[in-house]
Amino acid sequence: MTSDLLGRPLRDLRISLTDRCNFRCGYCMPRELFGPDHAFLPTSRLLSIDEIERVARTAVELGVSKIRLTGGEPLMRRGVVGIVERLARIEGLDLAMTTNGVLLPRFADDLAAAGLRRVTVSLDAVDQEIFEAASDSRFRVADVLRGVDAADAAGLGPVKVNAVIRRGLTDRQILPMIREHRGSGRILRFIEFMDVGGTNGWSRDHVVTAEEILDLIRSEWQVVELPASRYGEVAQRFMLADGSLEIGIIASVSVPFCGTCTRARVTAEGRLHTCLFSAGGVDLVPALRHGRPGDLEGLLSSTWAGRADRYSELRSGARTTLPVEMSYIGG
Ligand code: GTP
Ligand code: 5AD
Ligand code: SF4
Ligand code: SF4
Repeated sequence: MTSDLLGRPLRDLRISLTDRCNFRCGYCMPRELFGPDHAFLPTSRLLSIDEIERVARTAVELGVSKIRLTGGEPLMRRGVVGIVERLARIEGLDLAMTTNGVLLPRFADDLAAAGLRRVTVSLDAVDQEIFEAASDSRFRVADVLRGVDAADAAGLGPVKVNAVIRRGLTDRQILPMIREHRGSGRILRFIEFMDVGGTNGWSRDHVVTAEEILDLIRSEWQVVELPASRYGEVAQRFMLADGSLEIGIIASVSVPFCGTCTRARVTAEGRLHTCLFSAGGVDLVPALRHGRPGDLEGLLSSTWAGRADRYSELRSGARTTLPVEMSYIGG
């Protein structure tokens, strides 16, 4: 087993399949910066399906048991079902995807047949106007909910619904979201707004803390706390007392969880990041394309072995260089 300098094992890998997205969430891909002239990665720079499989297999050899496909929007990657099919052949792997959901009606059945186990859908609001303001897109809440239903029906559940809570924008949606998802069998998770990337205009004033979120929920519902589902779980878990909805709160700002962070991330062009907030990352492409057998494994394990990241625990002043953008690293 590969452990880092703080004794944390490598268990999870998030692989971004593309830096493109059909939404323009202000906190991730603000339209002023990701407009018609934005230079997305050309296809030639993306890791190929064979390369993605090699990275995944090597990571699994080093101890990874969970791979999550992300983006941008992973369903915008050409050949995404084929990629899932390849990775699903790797034994003992929990294979999941995080998506904005609007393409799920088209893809859910094929993804499930290809071997995807679970999906998480990002949906920050159920009110159409607030959703539009948050996602800066022409899509409708109903489009996303159709995607969630398609995932439920395809057996890709329990679907987790992630809502980023930003003060003055989506905080008004906490209680309506609970009403929407009660009784659905889904898990609703509220995420504290984070200072990821260099473009989302983050300030601590925009963060609604887990404590505030919980107080608000308790003003309307009785909730019971659930134990962490496993080592490295990022969400504090709760259940409405009537059993109608599991709620998670991801307090990455107010209660950081770096101490048990077992996640590595690979961007669509093959850079390995050992923290959501790390800057350049390590380029895996030379080892993938020109390396000798063992080079990729050596690079992955030595990079993890030298890892000391704990950005969220340090936060104030911890950042010296501009970190990688969220749309590049997939959350
Ligand atoms: P499973 O645990 O496999 O169910 O995946 P998941 O959907 O819960 O995804 P994950 O737990 O990896 O992340 C959910 C959200 O929590 C992410 O989209 C981020 O917003 C946040 N998050 C996840 N990992 C980290 C992390 O390592 N650091 C920080 N600061 N936030 C994270
Ligand atoms: N803070 C918290 N969560 C974020 N996400 C994107 N940007 C941020 C941010 N600044 C979430 C998305 C998605 C996941 C991949 O990360 O909404 O659920
Ligand atoms: Fe797209 Fe997700 Fe970023 Fe929104 S948060 S722009 S849906 S990648
Ligand atoms: Fe892991 Fe970095 Fe997030 Fe801490 S800030 S939990 S080390 S990804």
